[in-house]
Amino acid sequence: MNWIRRLLVSASESLWLRERAPRYRFVRRAAARFFPGENVGSAIAAARGLATDGIFTLLTHLGENVRDRHESETVAQQYLELLDRIRAENLPAEISVKLTQLGLDVDHELCYANLARLVERAGSQTVWIDMEQSAYVDATLELYTRAQKAYRRTGICVQTYLHRTEKDLVPLIEMGAAVRLVKGAYSEPRDIAYAKKREVDENYFRLARILLGPEAQRAGVRAVLATHHRKLIARITEWAAAQGIPKNQLEFAMLYGIQRGEQVRLAREGYRSDVLISYGAFWFPWYMRRLAERPANILFVIRNFFSR
Ligand code: FDA
Repeated sequence: MNWIRRLLVSASESLWLRERAPRYRFVRRAAARFFPGENVGSAIAAARGLATDGIFTLLTHLGENVRDRHESETVAQQYLELLDRIRAENLPAEISVKLTQLGLDVDHELCYANLARLVERAGSQTVWIDMEQSAYVDATLELYTRAQKAYRRTGICVQTYLHRTEKDLVPLIEMGAAVRLVKGAYSEPRDIAYAKKREVDENYFRLARILLGPEAQRAGVRAVLATHHRKLIARITEWAAAQGIPKNQLEFAMLYGIQRGEQVRLAREGYRSDVLISYGAFWFPWYMRRLAERPANILFVIRNFFSR
């Protein structure tokens, strides 16, 4: 299965495919399972629906690797409008951004300036930063640290497939960061990342315990455990109960369209349950990574091809 995953992640990085594949209706129909629509209105409507089940939302305008200043500023402006809309509708929602969408490949200062505008507009709400390929980790942590020191209302995603992440958590815990723990969605070389799923899962459990442990909690860390892995969620909740950690201090996050039943169950049982909703026209690379996470999803694509 590993070669299929690698192939799909490579497809997510292919400019040629990015331009052509979304033109096919069967590809669009298969992808629709994972996002409510391309426009902001459909994302807001989905967030409203989730809120009725007590579920919080993270909103992401799909996009990455913008290549010029103007494009990065347009993205920042779209996020500013989204923040205004969240406030106007009084939605229990935060935003999550990719730094390469805000101009990281163009100029770090430009990217930081765009990020700072979003954090200022978000007021008391946390602005989350996604973690992208390993080549971006240092720059992402650097800009995150700068924003967190200046505003204290930012969150960062870290990936348990990377060997370095346990060390990266040390300064993040010291500064009382908001940390979203994920396994990692890209294809990374073996010398820097765990190759076996079992190792990535085990590291997830280890790092989750660090983030929920007494030192991190004393420092004010907000830990968001982003996974659909039910056995792992059960392991974490059992461990937390044995430590006397109240359910409402545990926060789980999943993606729109995946494990809806589990999202609702967690909210009903008193955990905080978040769902990340993505929207926008630039969905192809993101969709390829969703297929790579679960190659069985390719069956949906095939089914949609034959039901044209
Ligand atoms: P895992 O891969 O262990 O699978 C467990 C089970 O979950 C599967 O058996 C299946 O039932 C279900 N499942 C998982 N993925 C599925 C899919 N695509 N379709 C259908 N079912 C699926 N990554 C990253 O590198 N940077 C980031 O910033 C983020 N941000 C982020 C935010 C949030 C809220 C989530 C939930 C995830 C991310 N990710 C991410 C993605 C993350 O790294 C990872 O690739 C996926 O969450 C898949 O790993 P899991 O632990 O969820 O499931």
